[in-house]
Amino acid sequence: MKNNQREDLFPNGKWLLCQPHHFDVIYEINPWMSMKNRPERNDADRQWQDLHHTFLRLGAYIEYITPHGNVPDMVYTANAGLVKGDKFVLSRFRHAERRLEEPYFEKWFEDAGYEVLKIRSDHAFEGEGDALFAGDTLFGGVSFRSDPEGHKEAQSLLGIKDLVLCELTNPKFYHIDTSFCPLNEDDALIFRQAFSDDSVERMSKKIKLHEVPEEEGERFVCNAVVLGKDVILPSDCPRTYELLDSLGYNAYPVAMNEFMKGGGASKCLCIRLDRS
Ligand code: ARG
Repeated sequence: MKNNQREDLFPNGKWLLCQPHHFDVIYEINPWMSMKNRPERNDADRQWQDLHHTFLRLGAYIEYITPHGNVPDMVYTANAGLVKGDKFVLSRFRHAERRLEEPYFEKWFEDAGYEVLKIRSDHAFEGEGDALFAGDTLFGGVSFRSDPEGHKEAQSLLGIKDLVLCELTNPKFYHIDTSFCPLNEDDALIFRQAFSDDSVERMSKKIKLHEVPEEEGERFVCNAVVLGKDVILPSDCPRTYELLDSLGYNAYPVAMNEFMKGGGASKCLCIRLDRS
């Protein structure tokens, strides 16, 4: 990889962000998106900058991908694909509107020196938005955006031993990162109402699940970015901040309501670039 910054200078990892210059709601592919409720440009810019500064303040290293005009959801870089070591599996989006992003992400990761791998079948796989690691276990969201076969293909391309498929049941929580957040190998936040009972049961055998209150889960509180012991997450969710505190984590709330109009928040706006 070209990128050889000293790891110890950036203990909170490397992340890819996309500035929100072209962020908008010009189609509707999830229940949050309404062309009658489009984002306010200045507010979205301010919220994105606040998120960006929080990353920098917490010692993360940030890379940027150039935004493009025809792809207003490209700001949600979590959906670019999934990184493991120097390999990157490119997403295969469910919707035609987002498939237009694939060539931009492919080029960026290729230029950055990753081995870019592709889903060969017609099955959907929406990247880190639907696939979250806790240690060596990958939790994959299915039902709305990614297919079980898409996850299995990504799993084999990246050589992942343990994949837990998790069934999402509420279309408002259509990606796993909207409702689940591993804090470390042993603990995760979960908005349990977003998952089938069977899935919660299966997940609980792999990791200790800490349930967030329903009204905060509804506000995407699980859409959180974990930087060591610091967690960046949506604002106005005090009970979850207390829960994090009791687990030894510090909450860094950021207002995300403009990005919620597109159906995403803090975690959707970034993808982790360094994962061994
Ligand atoms: N409007 C985007 C979509 O529907 C939002 C993506 C949110 N990303 C995420 N990782 N949950 O695809």
